[in-house]
Formats: sequence, structure tokens, C-alpha cells
Amino acid sequence: MTVNVRDLRKWKTEGKKFTMLTAYDYTTARWLDRAGIPVLLVGDSLGTTMLGYPDTLSVTMDDMIRHAGAVVRGAPNALIVGDMPFMAYHASADDAIRNAGRFLQEARVQAVKMEGGGRVIDYTRQLTAMGIPVMGHLGLTPTFVNQFGGYRVQGRSDEAAERILDDAKALEDVGAFAIVLEAVPSPLGQRASEALTVPTIGIGAGPHCDGQVLVIQDLLGLNPDHVAKFVREYAKLGDAIEAAARQFDHDVRDGAFPTPEHEYSAR
Ligand code: KIV
Repeated sequence: MTVNVRDLRKWKTEGKKFTMLTAYDYTTARWLDRAGIPVLLVGDSLGTTMLGYPDTLSVTMDDMIRHAGAVVRGAPNALIVGDMPFMAYHASADDAIRNAGRFLQEARVQAVKMEGGGRVIDYTRQLTAMGIPVMGHLGLTPTFVNQFGGYRVQGRSDEAAERILDDAKALEDVGAFAIVLEAVPSPLGQRASEALTVPTIGIGAGPHCDGQVLVIQDLLGLNPDHVAKFVREYAKLGDAIEAAARQFDHDVRDGAFPTPEHEYSAR
């Protein structure tokens, strides 16, 4: 049965930890669904992982819809969350409503995610009231990279920590069904998880969060560049891809591939 937003709160009540992974394409979504990953996030991180941009700022709603649709088709059992990209909700509540609506109507995701507090709190209230479930995202919110002056741990000072806690509480109060906490000190992750009745989903927010999320390329060892402190690589698929491609190239040049078992007969 397909996971829904109520399941996440139930798991929190039962003290059952859960996982979320990013996915951007049909094939990967199928494997993650087979693995029983309950929540898949079509993250705007696809800007860096799939499209090769230096950050997430150039990602458009059309990019997101195309990838989200593929993930939905590949993962019939998971709850699929579409990440609202930069400028999809920044100018007005109307934009937020229209673009979140597109996600549900065109890609058929079950929920959307938005970064930040402030005006996003009111957008969350409005979307929730229209039947569009919203996941919040606080701490190191990547679309704020220029404001933060880089990808830095957030919530280290008492004041900053209180601000994140206040935003988290406000998002919960207006109906957010879960909140991602990214790159914040573990004690803050713990305080937020204890203060909220909706689940927190941590990425670099310590072990006390109700769920944990990783970017799929990081988990699979497909990121040849900097790997963040909070990542554990559960496989080395980058090395496996390189070795397989080298072997194929070598075999073709040596005449070792194809061999008779790969050939078609005339009739
Ligand atoms: O876009 C993304 O992948 C995310 C996760 C890091 C939570 O927002």
C-alpha cells in the first residue's frame, strides 16, 4: 500500500525511525521502491546531481515536473515529495499555489517541500488548507546559498537556534506534515524533534531526528567531488561504473566482445 503523510506522524508516535532518499529518474525510483524506502524526495538537488549546475538556483518547475513524473511512475509504493525550486514560490502566494498544484496535477506527487520560514509559513497554511501537503525545510536551505555566503552549518548561536525552533513550531502549527532539518548541530536536531509532534527528517542534524534523508548519489558513492561530513557512502558505484566502462572499452578494442553468445544467426 502506498505510504501517505499520516503514516509519518504515526511512525513518530510509535518511535519508529524512517528513511527518505532523493530520486530523480524512473530506474532509480524502481530500485528504491523495491528496497522499501518509504519516502522519495524529488529534490531540487537535481540541479547539481543530474543537470550539472553549480547550485540549485537554475532549476525550473518544468525540470522538476519532468523528473518527478518519472519517479512517480517508478515508485508506486513510496510517498513522493516534489521539491519547489527557487522562484517557484518566492514572488507570491499565487505562484506557490499554482506551482504546487502543477506538481500534484501534472507529476502526481503526493506532497511538496518548500525551504525556509517567514512568508513560507503562510504559504504552508494556504497550501495545506487546499489539500496540498507540505514538508518544511529549515537550517541549511540550499537556495539561500548566496545569503549564507556558502554552504555552512546553521543554528550554531543560541539566537539562530531559537529562530529555527520558532520556525519549525510555526510550520507545524500551520499544518506542515514533516520538517527537514539540514546541517544543524545535533542538540538542535534533538530539541526540535522533541518539541514537535510532526516528524523531523535530518540530513546532518544528528541521530535524534525521527527520520534521516540522504542524496542518492552520496549514498551510492557516485559523487566524485567533495563528500559532506554527514554522508555515509553505502556503495562505491562510481568506481564500479568506471571499471565496467573501462572493461567494455578494453574488450571491444581487444576483440573480446561481442562473442558468439551475443550474436544473432541469420534464421
Ligand atoms: O534537494 C534536496 O535534495 C534536498 C535534500 C537535501 C533534503 O532538499
